[in-house]
Amino acid sequence: MATDVHRPVSTQAVHVEGLTRSFDGRAVIDDLRLDVRPGEFVALLGRSGCGKSTLLRILAGLDREIEGTVLVPRRKAVAFQAPRLMPWKRVWRNVLLGLPGRPGRDVAEQALKEVGLDHRTDAWPKTLSGGEAQRASLARALVREPDLLLLDEPFGALDALTRIKAQRLVAELWQRRGCAVLLVTHDVEEAVLLADRVLVMDGGVIAHERRVDLDRPRDITDPRFAELRAELLHRLGVDAAAEAA
Ligand SMILES: Nc1ncnc2c1ncn2[C@@H]1O[C@H](COP(=O)(O)OP(=O)(O)OP(=O)(O)O)[C@@H](O)[C@H]1O
Ligand SMILES: [Mg+2]
Repeated sequence: MATDVHRPVSTQAVHVEGLTRSFDGRAVIDDLRLDVRPGEFVALLGRSGCGKSTLLRILAGLDREIEGTVLVPRRKAVAFQAPRLMPWKRVWRNVLLGLPGRPGRDVAEQALKEVGLDHRTDAWPKTLSGGEAQRASLARALVREPDLLLLDEPFGALDALTRIKAQRLVAELWQRRGCAVLLVTHDVEEAVLLADRVLVMDGGVIAHERRVDLDRPRDITDPRFAELRAELLHRLGVDAAAEAA
């Protein structure tokens, strides 16, 4: 009963219209509309359980039990919070996993170099740190040369310092590659730091959106940064004063 169309679009990297996804008769996504421009960096916020991962899985083509229109580029890649590496394959083989054709080790090495992990090309996944596993997962997304990169809380499990490094890496990769990015995050600061536009999902739709017109690299001490952060926290139902207490 899926009425979606997955095909490349030239004017938008993502075009979603009238999207509905129900589980057991309950619409988690309910007549949602979303457009993302080619090369645009969009962050998606929303309380736990509001349907962010469900939306991402639909855009990735992993869930087709939907109603509505979903137009996405053919070349897309997704990285999840848990890096999902196959423990019985070395890092470089994990990077190439599922790629069409018979890409050589050099393709994996190039991507690992881009994420600063070429020294672990032959490592087993269980010997990687959390940040390294996350970078391997990013390399796996990059070898797909995506026009759309979907990231579901990719930094959620990282310690503060590793997280800052990973955020910088994603910002760098995005600027170099020029692909559209949709980043799901719980972290309002991360959203304002990285995105051109921040969306807040609620009630099965994009309930609020905010353009971030701050120069890059962004300065979190800029008062406009704090203003945006407070506004978004408010939209998420978090009282900034209470949060600071
Ligand atoms: N396969 C499924 N079967 C039944 N219900 C599901 C399924 N997948 C998701 N849901 C429900 O849909 C709702 C949205 O889930 P989703 O994982 O998209 O939330 P989320 O916004 O990503 O939350 P979080 O921030 O906690 O990751 C939840 O209530 C969840 O229980
Ligand atoms: Mg989720």
